[in-house]
Amino acid sequence: MQLLQPKRVLLGVTGGIAAYKACELCRRLLDLGAEVQVVMTPAGTRFVTPLTLQALSGRPVRTDLLDPSAEAAMGHIELARWADLILVAPASADFLARLAAGNADDLLTTACLASDAPIAVAPAMNQAMWRSPATRRNVATLIGDGVQIWGPGSGSQACGDEGPGRMLEPEALLAHVQTALTGAGARSATGRSLAGRHVVITAGPTREPLDPVRYLSNHSSGKQGFALAAAAAEAGARVSLIAGPVDLPTPGNVDRIDVLTARDMLTAAEHCCRNGADVFIGVAAVADYRPATPAEQKIKKAHGDTGLTLTLVENPDIVATIAGGVPRPFTVAFAAETEQLVAHARSKLERKQVDMVVANDVSRKDIGFGSDDNVVTLVTAEGDEELPAMPKVALARLLIERIASRAGLSPTAGSKGHDVTSAMDKSN
Ligand code: PMT
Repeated sequence: MQLLQPKRVLLGVTGGIAAYKACELCRRLLDLGAEVQVVMTPAGTRFVTPLTLQALSGRPVRTDLLDPSAEAAMGHIELARWADLILVAPASADFLARLAAGNADDLLTTACLASDAPIAVAPAMNQAMWRSPATRRNVATLIGDGVQIWGPGSGSQACGDEGPGRMLEPEALLAHVQTALTGAGARSATGRSLAGRHVVITAGPTREPLDPVRYLSNHSSGKQGFALAAAAAEAGARVSLIAGPVDLPTPGNVDRIDVLTARDMLTAAEHCCRNGADVFIGVAAVADYRPATPAEQKIKKAHGDTGLTLTLVENPDIVATIAGGVPRPFTVAFAAETEQLVAHARSKLERKQVDMVVANDVSRKDIGFGSDDNVVTLVTAEGDEELPAMPKVALARLLIERIASRAGLSPTAGSKGHDVTSAMDKSN
């Protein structure tokens, strides 16, 4: 099936043992009807010869920035304009660092810098290199710049280590390419992958009154939920943001509904979803319990040593109620955990019957509640994906892309984002 005809893919190959998989990827892209122009870094040519990729792609492989004969045929700027998608697979740690820094010190980085096409990278490196603070910083920068990060997978590595850093298999990369170029989650010329969609988000804490002056609550600042609301609006969605008591400005083009208690939040959520929202994201830190009967007057301090016993009753589960409703939106829960992150998130996925759980470790001071950064693992029925540390704002954009893609949402007819063509754009 020529699913990718007449799309043009600039396939970048950098130095890493996974370069051999680029040969299969190139062949499969051609099988799907894409035109493929391979650009290799000097290190890439040490792992696979340009001749191999030339034979597979049917085009001379480009390796030099300053090659007069090649530039006479298609200059580096022309090459950058030619591409509908730039896919760098494998993308080494060094390449990610140079791309994040905005270097233009070889043909591949120059083409990336000069192109308006979406850029995707398939990282491939040793697990310790992938986990290093420098690579995490570079990946976070790239995400903030709108670069799509496909993978890496986890497992045994060529160097004998075990862990994250394996390049995704060609089959998985092809699925991403199809999504990016033709299908669900594809970006329009304005980068609005959720144009025409309705996204409902809860954010911040809830407050459960104990008496007229006291309440039970938690440390949620609302930053992560508000960042998601801004990212969804940026992606073209109509956004309803149901906010607990937080001290944050409302993001542009977002409808905000302020609530206090979990029960108010549920009422607002059901109201927003009654006509069929496309996506529901429960970021709010909802109080699981509330005082059974809030006192009408301020509870007086007891004299003597009797203490105070509170009776709490369970609050309704908002995200589970929405996931069990009709019509049912694509439903995403967050999981705030202090131990066994993935195991607990997976049990929430099953118990609450949601489509995705975004798990974060809230025992750390530098991420989770109140901080500007977060580290999450995405848990779905298909598996787990550990994402690197990054600002909540960058994470929000990445999550919106992942959700649009997994939910199979493409811009609706009549919306600005419907025209998904070769004029596709890189976000930001
Ligand atoms: O607001 P910030 O300071 O930026 O911090 C962000 C965050 C840490 C609050 C956020 O990233 C996060 O983890 N949110 C979920 C917090 C939470 O309540 O987690 P939970 O594991 O207790 O709940 C799981 C899911 O069920 C959540 O989607 C929650 O919204 C939902 N829930 C929980 C209880 C309830 N009664 N109704 C619900 O809908």
